[in-house]
Amino acid sequence: MSAGNLATAGLTKAFGGVRAVDDATVEFHDGKINAVIGPNGSGKTTFFNCVTGMIRPDSGTVTYGGRDVTGRAPHRIAAAGIGRSFQLCRIFPRMTVRENVLAAVRPRGMAGLLRSAHDAGDVERARGWLRRVGIDHLEDVEARNLSYGQQKLLELAGVLMAEPETIMLDEPAGGVNPALIDRIAALVRELNAEGRTFIVVEHNMELVMSLSDHVVVFDRGRPIAEGPPDTVRADPAVLEAYLGV
Ligand SMILES: Nc1ncnc2c1ncn2[C@@H]1O[C@H](COP(=O)(O)OP(=O)(O)O)[C@@H](O)[C@H]1O
Ligand SMILES: [Mg+2]
Repeated sequence: MSAGNLATAGLTKAFGGVRAVDDATVEFHDGKINAVIGPNGSGKTTFFNCVTGMIRPDSGTVTYGGRDVTGRAPHRIAAAGIGRSFQLCRIFPRMTVRENVLAAVRPRGMAGLLRSAHDAGDVERARGWLRRVGIDHLEDVEARNLSYGQQKLLELAGVLMAEPETIMLDEPAGGVNPALIDRIAALVRELNAEGRTFIVVEHNMELVMSLSDHVVVFDRGRPIAEGPPDTVRADPAVLEAYLGV
């Protein structure tokens, strides 16, 4: 399972006068757990939005598996094999846990035409992913009744329904209690061991350092450092970006 590297060249997106992403050239490591870190407002989420088609960049390119996917619609980026979660968890609060996961895929065949029901295979796969993330016992519960951490696991199950080769997570541990952070970290490791590439924006440094193989540091829209976690942590430019020293 290796669609090939996700990379950007000269990616730029400005909002008014603010260059949220500024000439970002980044190559992620295929088959690895990549982390993207940087101070608040350094452009990490905007970078994710440009890569996944939520926002069209002003200039620059996004390539995936050697193909130019710049500016493609989100569903086409997803079809190319890239899944993502959102910093502010996106779920349907009044739908059940099972319905949420099923909503991540369009029903196939006749059921798809009627837009009414998913086939038994999809329902089984949804159950399988819910089991995998550890919330299958909640499948009939309305999503709004889940804890925030459980909602994040639900969102991840939905992402996995599309069988992405590359998974982009925007602050998966933000606002999540420590026990569930451990579960999310273990899941990321397992899914990576099975061949999925991860790109994870995360503020929890302990988690970044223990989880990732490769770290890219953003500051004011630009990648300013990259490398293995230990190297990046000791980089003076990184300390400066974080501490302003
Ligand atoms: N939709 C938007 N409209 C205007 N400014 C935005 C928008 N999204 C992000 N920004 C600005 O772009 C910069 C980068 O934001 P963001 O990508 O959310 O950073 P991060 O995820 O690293 O915290 C910030 O200055 C932010 O205020
Ligand atoms: Mg963000």
